[in-house]
Amino acid sequence: MQTTLREILANRYAKCIDVSKRIRWDIDRDVIRGRTFDFGKKFLPDGLSRVDQLACLSGKERRLMSQIQGRTYANIFRLVERYIVAKVLEVSRGHCLGDQIALEALVRFSDEELKHQELFRRLEKMIAEGMPAGYAFRPDPDEKPRPCSANPLGRCSR
Ligand SMILES: [Fe+2]
Repeated sequence: MQTTLREILANRYAKCIDVSKRIRWDIDRDVIRGRTFDFGKKFLPDGLSRVDQLACLSGKERRLMSQIQGRTYANIFRLVERYIVAKVLEVSRGHCLGDQIALEALVRFSDEELKHQELFRRLEKMIAEGMPAGYAFRPDPDEKPRPCSANPLGRCSR
């Protein structure tokens, strides 16, 4: 008997719900655990940051560059997580009055992605507290959409 795409997706959604119910993690309890960043160390491995190849920088400057890159990673992921939630909620609309297993799986997935957003927001704030002023990441991952004259509810579709 051949398994249909619909059956495969239904199984995946059910599995997503099952995993979500079994694995609940907390940002403070399971990730940060009272720790802080050590600004005497690099924040990314050299293999990822490639700062070890910047011969023009001193060791201290390479460490700072690695920390700037780490902070930027946190900001990029904050931004990406925001778009993931927006897309998943868009997809979930198609299931609102239909497949409730799919809807629950997508809502639970969105909840996880919101937690990821908060995690990266917290990490970025922790890094910012120990770094010199002058860093800016654009676009601001927490920026609200600008009000649009075509849509006074604040969402611009342009
Ligand atoms: Fe995520």
